[in-house]
Amino acid sequence: MLKHYLKLLVSAAAILIAASATAQEPLKIGMVLEMSGAFADFGMQMMNGARAYMKVHGDMVAGRKVELIVRDTTGVPDVAKRVAQELVTNDKVDFLAGFGLTPSALSVAQLATEAKKPMIVMNAAASVITTRSPYIARVSMTLAQVTAPVATWAIKNGITKVYTLVADYGPGIDAETQFKKTFTAAGGQIVGDVRTPMRNPEFAPFLQRIKDARPQAVFVFLPAGEQVVAFMKGFAERELDKAGIKLIGAGDITEDGVIEAMGDAPLGVVTTHQYSVAHDSAENRAFLKAYAEVAGTKQRANFMAVGAWDGMAAMYEVARRLNGKIDGDKAMDILKGLKIDSPRGPLEIDPVTRDPVETIYVRRVERLKDGKLYNVEFDKFPNFKDPSK
Ligand code: PHB
Repeated sequence: MLKHYLKLLVSAAAILIAASATAQEPLKIGMVLEMSGAFADFGMQMMNGARAYMKVHGDMVAGRKVELIVRDTTGVPDVAKRVAQELVTNDKVDFLAGFGLTPSALSVAQLATEAKKPMIVMNAAASVITTRSPYIARVSMTLAQVTAPVATWAIKNGITKVYTLVADYGPGIDAETQFKKTFTAAGGQIVGDVRTPMRNPEFAPFLQRIKDARPQAVFVFLPAGEQVVAFMKGFAERELDKAGIKLIGAGDITEDGVIEAMGDAPLGVVTTHQYSVAHDSAENRAFLKAYAEVAGTKQRANFMAVGAWDGMAAMYEVARRLNGKIDGDKAMDILKGLKIDSPRGPLEIDPVTRDPVETIYVRRVERLKDGKLYNVEFDKFPNFKDPSK
């Protein structure tokens, strides 16, 4: 008899627990992404990275069903601000996340502060971003962080005269500033610099100017995607390589997602960055498998997809530790110092700057046995922080 009552009691409790779980509101993640326009690749990579994470880790965390609500910024900062406001006010999201472009992240910073919404930056990489709101945590990189190592590598490898070319906006200026600082401090000389427009840049005249200046190498940062493909083709067409000018850069210029569209031009190019598809680890293999399942095998993942995957890992962990009740201040306390086993290697969110601390790899573009181009890692700077902060 007693046994029977106990059984009833247990199943009643189980029903109650199940009911309270299903009665919980979904955990809403507002994704502010470039889904159309010249930077639509960014949104596609981040969406697929986030979906790949959910494919492996499920769509339930701390009793709440995870819902991604995607809004298109079209690459315009004012649109990013408006859609973020709608996500907070109308959709009542628990987190803001995404942000491919620096200007979009900057335009949403104040809203994150006012609404006390944790804002997870999955790519945007100007150093200043995390200083604009205490509710921002970044899981990607900063340009200063991925640039300093290639300046060090260049000097160590006998390159002393460099021309710099960067996109004329926050991350580009950070890259230029950091490259010059690290390179000249180690005895290098900058023989010229140029900043190219963010919209529809025409690289031919700049490439000619660089060729005429005869540097040993040109250091380049351009936003990943279409621009780097156009630049790489121009570099080969103008025969800068044949004139003995080496190309070095932040890894954005040989990013995995578009590298196959560059022909042979990037072969031998050395860059420094936090992620390569060729990174050899169990975490990376699991990531790439899941990515192929959601995105198909034609589209290769890149560092932005990894940023989204890791951003999801961070939000899942916050949800777990807060038992599903997301409070902005408590979430930020958890994010500060959070460690993640990323497909790129170990990743930590610096408790002071809320920026990533991670390994920056030195890589060379090679054609591997499968006939495809890869950034092959051959040296590294472990636990590397943004040196400008
Ligand atoms: C940025 O706008 O912060 C940004 C965009 C593309 C990159 C890196 C940084 O490849």
